Amino acid sequence: MTPEAPGHAGGDALHFSVLTLFPELLRPFTQEALLGRAAANGLLKFDLHDLREHAGNRWRKVDDTPYGGGAGMVIRVDVVERALAALPSTPDEVILLTPAGQRFDQRLAEELAGRQHIALLCGRYEGFDARVEGLVTREVSIGDYVMMGGEAAAACIMEAVGRLRPGVIGDEESWRADSYSSGLLDYPEYTRPAEWQGHGVPQVLMGGNHAAITRWRRDRALERTLARRPDLLPGAGLTPEDSSALLTLGVDADALAGHGAPPPPTPKRKRTRRPKTPQEPV
Ligand code: ADE
Repeated sequence: MTPEAPGHAGGDALHFSVLTLFPELLRPFTQEALLGRAAANGLLKFDLHDLREHAGNRWRKVDDTPYGGGAGMVIRVDVVERALAALPSTPDEVILLTPAGQRFDQRLAEELAGRQHIALLCGRYEGFDARVEGLVTREVSIGDYVMMGGEAAAACIMEAVGRLRPGVIGDEESWRADSYSSGLLDYPEYTRPAEWQGHGVPQVLMGGNHAAITRWRRDRALERTLARRPDLLPGAGLTPEDSSALLTLGVDADALAGHGAPPPPTPKRKRTRRPKTPQEPV
């Protein structure tokens, strides 16, 4: 049996409907590389909808000045309502992309991979009329910075969610070992040349001892996560062996619990063998 992405029940293509003022910005994401191949193979489905088609006026104007005054323009809620109503099926998730939303992360990607039809609503200008809140299931931000629109955020979500559907990435197992799916950052990888500008490849990777390689990779993932994202350690399901590795990496024994690490394995007591009684010659 092939492993399934968490939260995904299998079956039909995952359908993304993107509502945007710039559908052509996203076209390459849906046609090239692995997402494009998944769409061609019927694993994912992408529909790009131009919000201007639903402007309701011959100037295709979708925005207006904000009540109360101020700079910028606001996208009208009735335009969004018509665009959503025109979708061929009702999405089970309607996401407004905004820097004011819930932060997107791997856990949310895994949750969304279980949906059948996700609508992504991309803003531009000053944003949407606040009443769109009543039309969406959630608001999502891809990080604490402000972009000029939600299209790049929609692309991030399609990439991160799409790759969790079975068959989308070649190696079904590879998403499990990835940064975040394992709870830790990725371990470093190397390939030829074995020697490059004075930099070699760690000897253990050249040796073919698979148990040693697995442990080395786990230790490097722990080392990287400790150095770069220690906040991830408590959620990473650390084992007693990981705790030993953390101690070797310089973590104080008292600090292990704070990183969500269990006590390290108790060293096995050496069995003291009773000296053999010399056989009496008979
Ligand atoms: N639109 C503009 N900035 C954004 C962000 N950080 N996340 C999602 N949508 C956005």
